[in-house]
Amino acid sequence: MLRFCVVLCLTTLLLAQDASKPAPNNSTAPVYTADGRLVFPANYREWIYLTTGMDMDYNPDIAMAGHSMFDNVFVNPEAYKAFVATGTWPDKTMLVLEGRMAANKGSINKSGHYQTGDVMMQSVHIKDESRFPGKWAFFGFDGGKPSKQIPKEAVCYSCHEQHGAVDTTFVQFYPTLLEIAKKKGTLAPGYMKEETATAVEGSEKK
Ligand code: HEC
Repeated sequence: MLRFCVVLCLTTLLLAQDASKPAPNNSTAPVYTADGRLVFPANYREWIYLTTGMDMDYNPDIAMAGHSMFDNVFVNPEAYKAFVATGTWPDKTMLVLEGRMAANKGSINKSGHYQTGDVMMQSVHIKDESRFPGKWAFFGFDGGKPSKQIPKEAVCYSCHEQHGAVDTTFVQFYPTLLEIAKKKGTLAPGYMKEETATAVEGSEKK
């Protein structure tokens, strides 16, 4: 009887959920709404940490108005393991970029910056062959709500395609992964060309 009740209650609970508000996605695989929006991977902070950049300046559209920001990058554990083995990303890779407001005055801190609870932005770069064959897709999230794909014409795609070290991702800034990509020979030709050009420029300046 008890078991019957548990099953019934669970079913009722599931049915009662509003279809427009999907349950939070706590898996490491992508989940989409019926209209193709990506559900934000709510537990990304339990994934593998790749890097933190601070006030990186590559996007002229971001006006920081005198604020400092950290950006943290995380990847789902399955994709990380595959990258370590092969030097490139498998299908269903999800990378999360999280922007956090920096602060310098607080507690015992006298100099330098630390990260605060103020999340300024979250976006996802995803490789999912069943939905986006041959290409990665970007999603920007507003307060964790499911989001539509950022249009393919957006500058996100061109910058990542032209400058990303491995398969349109910025592995050149992910210190533990860059060495692996070098060893496995998976660096993108465009990136290698840029690196050679910078090295020549550097030696000419000497
Ligand atoms: C001018 C170049 C440029 C543009 C434009 C750009 N990015 Fe990036 N992106 C970067 C760099 C550099 C990093 C590495 C950040 C770090 O090391 O902390 C990055 C990292 C990321 C990551 C982490 C995963 C990865 O692919 O390496 C995501 C997600 C991301 N960007 C999303 C976006 C979105 C969404 C847009 C468009 C709204 C965008 N980016 C536009 C340069 C760019």
